[in-house]
Amino acid sequence: MSIDQSHGHPGSDVATTSEGGLPERFENPGLEPHRHRMADVDPKAAKRAERQVAALFGLSTLGTILFVVAYYAVSIEGDSWAEIARQLRISTTLLGIGLALATFGVGAGAVHWAKTLMPDEERIELRHPMRGTDEDRDAALDILREGSAEAGIGRRPLIRNSLLGALVPLTVGPAIVLLRDTGPLPGNDLSTTFWKQGLALVHDPITDPEGLGRKIKPEDLTIGSVVHVLPEGIQAEEVEHPLDEIAKAAVLLIRLNPDDLDEVSRAGAYEGIVAYSKICTHMGCPVALYEQQTHHLLCPCHQSTFDLKQNCKVIFGPAKRPLPQLAITVDDAGYLVAKSPFTEAAGPSFWERG
Ligand code: FES
Repeated sequence: MSIDQSHGHPGSDVATTSEGGLPERFENPGLEPHRHRMADVDPKAAKRAERQVAALFGLSTLGTILFVVAYYAVSIEGDSWAEIARQLRISTTLLGIGLALATFGVGAGAVHWAKTLMPDEERIELRHPMRGTDEDRDAALDILREGSAEAGIGRRPLIRNSLLGALVPLTVGPAIVLLRDTGPLPGNDLSTTFWKQGLALVHDPITDPEGLGRKIKPEDLTIGSVVHVLPEGIQAEEVEHPLDEIAKAAVLLIRLNPDDLDEVSRAGAYEGIVAYSKICTHMGCPVALYEQQTHHLLCPCHQSTFDLKQNCKVIFGPAKRPLPQLAITVDDAGYLVAKSPFTEAAGPSFWERG
């Protein structure tokens, strides 16, 4: 059965297959008559649409400005954890609103522009060999030039300028913010964490505000329990950069049946309770998904999977190193404490890492 290549032309026939498998032919109805939009026929409506597009691009510019201002203006500091958590909430909310407005403004403006002002004449293009003739290619170029002229980039300076005014800050603003976050070089700062021998494991106040600074005893944990912990004292006032320290020292504490652990994991565990860095060795996302049946830890960012039974060996995904284990024991009062600091740097690779 051959297919008619003039598909889409009124009056031409198109081959289909009937239920019985026999070819049928029907009249190609062609395109419906083109319907003009308000902006095509009414210059006032076109001007109104132009202003609406410009307003949406302007909204995007404001969103980017809000994003950059919020990044610098809201400092995540405070005298208490409640204050820091509040600042963090304000900062992320403003950053989110700013970025949402910036991307929404550009996207909605472009869609509105295309729907109201750009040419919307339906055209039919015949099927043809992949490479057209030179005449066809020249004609296509003419159509593109004509389309770009009709799109009105040159004729509508308000839209062009407001689009530039939205796109330039949208690309440059976040780029500056991101670049600022890449420096300064960390040196050896990432090789060590706050953990020291004898420091107690305490509830992470950000994941567990109720448990603020509370120490943990082995009997607090049943098999399968997962607790997010930090070293005792990390939130003390004299700690210079507490958020940076927390970012490196966050640990997951999990209780398993000791028989499920291999020899190496058991050496750093206490009665089946194991502690591992929560910072993914791929790109540093928090590894916080624990699968109780398989004893796997999953990083939500790129699905690296670590096997707790085998000292957090990587069994899937892009991470190249196991999560470092924090060896633990109990102190005289029966609280869980670090037996030693991490024996290797937590988190992803970095230049100075050995
Ligand atoms: S950051 Fe964890 S898998 Fe990429």
